Amino acid sequence: MDNTQHENGFEAKLASNTSIEPKDWMPENYRKHLIRQISQHAHSEIIGMLPEGNWITRAPSLRRKMVLLAKVQDEGGHGLYLYSAAETLGISRDELLDQLHTGKAKYSSIFNYPTLTWADIGAVGWLVDGAAIMNQVMLQRTSYGPYARAMVRICKEESFHQRQGYEIMMVLARGTAEQKEMAQDALNRWWWPSLMMFGPPDEKSPNTANAIKWKIKRESNDQLRQRFVNQTVPQAELIGLTIPDKDLKWNEEKKGYDFGTPDWAEFNNVIAGNGPCNKERLDTRNRAHNNGQWVRQAAAAYAEKQNKQVAA
Ligand code: 3HC
Repeated sequence: MDNTQHENGFEAKLASNTSIEPKDWMPENYRKHLIRQISQHAHSEIIGMLPEGNWITRAPSLRRKMVLLAKVQDEGGHGLYLYSAAETLGISRDELLDQLHTGKAKYSSIFNYPTLTWADIGAVGWLVDGAAIMNQVMLQRTSYGPYARAMVRICKEESFHQRQGYEIMMVLARGTAEQKEMAQDALNRWWWPSLMMFGPPDEKSPNTANAIKWKIKRESNDQLRQRFVNQTVPQAELIGLTIPDKDLKWNEEKKGYDFGTPDWAEFNNVIAGNGPCNKERLDTRNRAHNNGQWVRQAAAAYAEKQNKQVAA
């Protein structure tokens, strides 16, 4: 087959919503786009373990500790499915990890903010996992098969994470005045960074046009951000918390909320590596990787020994 036939076959698959599989022909830029997005997503899951892991030893009860431990483990699992999906595009795990550890690869801006109180764990579950699902539900229908299939399980787990976060906030909001204040303070600090998770406004998003054309993303950054606001505002009202946005107002005509503009200068600063915790997150991740060196060596030596025994 020549290149035009390959391209026509690829376009026909996209048009009929037939997933593209690892051995199928695909344009080089589609492959690169996917490696970029899937690996950033994987890194976000792995770095996302850190702000929450920070609270495992300080969770207020055994039940809370068990739930948080399970959630953090889930995030590790998500990272692994996503690294596997990225590897099917012809890049090795070592290369992907190297890009993360050297600071070359991006991961979600949100994980560069600190978790200062227990209420932050509620806010992260409710808002951060809530924003993640809003974005990820459409990725279950993304055009690349291995990514779409990984997202099915991830979405189920993220949905549980969102509910556990909301439940923490609900309990705090119904608690003492200090507990309610702590919940409100967490909402105040996490609201705007959560809106930034969806990425820059559509007109400033260089990757959206191709992502939509190739059916990698099915909706734009702004569409998803709007849906997140529409869904989350009533949840805040239900538990008596206030969204920290003076411009927030129901718009009957569009059947959605009008809302203020996130501080895009802050967003650009965080993704450029200068957020409150960027350095700490990368240092911690690198330390964990280096400390795990002996485990990787032992596993490789064991596998080699097993292979020799099988061959003998
Ligand atoms: N944090 C860091 N970087 C971001 C970002 C964010 N919140 N939003 C956008 N960017 C980066 C993009 O990666 C891109 O950089 P690059 O060209 O150097 O790669 C640049 O800013 C311009 O943004 P675009 O809108 O053009 O980029 P995309 O079309 O890729 O959209 C995205 C960004 C919405 C994050 C998209 O990549 C996406 O949907 N990714 C999959 C989902 C994902 O990664 N989620 C991470 C959330 S956290 C998570 O899932 C963990 C869970 O446990 C909570």
